[in-house]
Amino acid sequence: MSHKIQYDIPIRMRRNRYSSGIRAMVAENAVTVNDLIYPVFILDGSNRKEAINSMPGQSRVSLDNLLLIAQDLVDNKVNGIALFPVIEGLKDNQASQSYADEGLVQTAIRLLKSKFPQLVVFSDVALDPYTIHGQDGIIDDTAYVLNDETIEVLIKQALSHARAGVDFVSPSDMMDGRIGLIRDALDQHGFINVGIMAYSAKYASKYYGPFRDAVGSSSNLANADKKNYQLNPANIKEAMCEVALDIAEGADMVMVKPGLPYLDVVSTVANNFDKPVAVYHVSGEYAMLKAASLAGYLDYDATLIETMLCFKRAGADMIWTYSALDVARILNTKS
Ligand code: PBG
Repeated sequence: MSHKIQYDIPIRMRRNRYSSGIRAMVAENAVTVNDLIYPVFILDGSNRKEAINSMPGQSRVSLDNLLLIAQDLVDNKVNGIALFPVIEGLKDNQASQSYADEGLVQTAIRLLKSKFPQLVVFSDVALDPYTIHGQDGIIDDTAYVLNDETIEVLIKQALSHARAGVDFVSPSDMMDGRIGLIRDALDQHGFINVGIMAYSAKYASKYYGPFRDAVGSSSNLANADKKNYQLNPANIKEAMCEVALDIAEGADMVMVKPGLPYLDVVSTVANNFDKPVAVYHVSGEYAMLKAASLAGYLDYDATLIETMLCFKRAGADMIWTYSALDVARILNTKS
């Protein structure tokens, strides 16, 4: 091939990008279906499927429909599912439904593990779906979320999930010391193989807005926020302390949340700790991508895969995403 001009440029980086075959060979990171965990909102009753307005494409589903989703996940080789309950009319100040053995999440875990034993089930450990005020814990008369009183309930909640057969409990509440105390309680009751995926670096983020709509906690929360337990978006050293503590207390996996705006946190955690790191591509991130693609401003599939790749490049081992089934379908039709 001849060129009109040929300067002396001995190092040409573009040679490694010349063809798709070369590009594939030099790719440093990849996203696979093994990386995905699908969060699902569940409801009581049967034959129910309610679209979530702020999360186009996602629904709250009753357990019969949950099984259809689980089948879809298995068919698409997605290994992980995370359960988030929508509790209607059963909320109180003590979050007493959170540890009911016949509760929605506990029933869902038993059902999933009986039909799809190979699916890895993660259950949220936090009280916000069950409290009248929408906070993740028990509050005092100034509405301050009490740490140790909350942990007492979280332990009961985690044990009820373990009795139902969950693979991993996922404390998302950000109380101090809860990982160690939940680990102790699980071990004392013989649940040595129930793991803990700790939401270690969980920020007080406005990107959770659509999730709170989905579980109905935004109206409960009203104008309150979660800033005296979730992390300040300005901080990263504090996040590293949280991760270090959770690992020292027995976390098997740690999470950074939200995802895309917090890739520096993902990367710093991945570079400084040896436990698997999950990133949560949260509801607001999903909503932004969906809204832009529905408006015709972004190509959903391509932008989604790029986003997943960025999580991997930052060092995430696992990705919690509402787009898990979409990612899997894209990857599975390519190969
Ligand atoms: C609650 C919980 C939240 C999310 C997961 N677990 C919301 C919150 O902390 O207010 C957010 C997930 C998302 O936005 O997708 N413990």
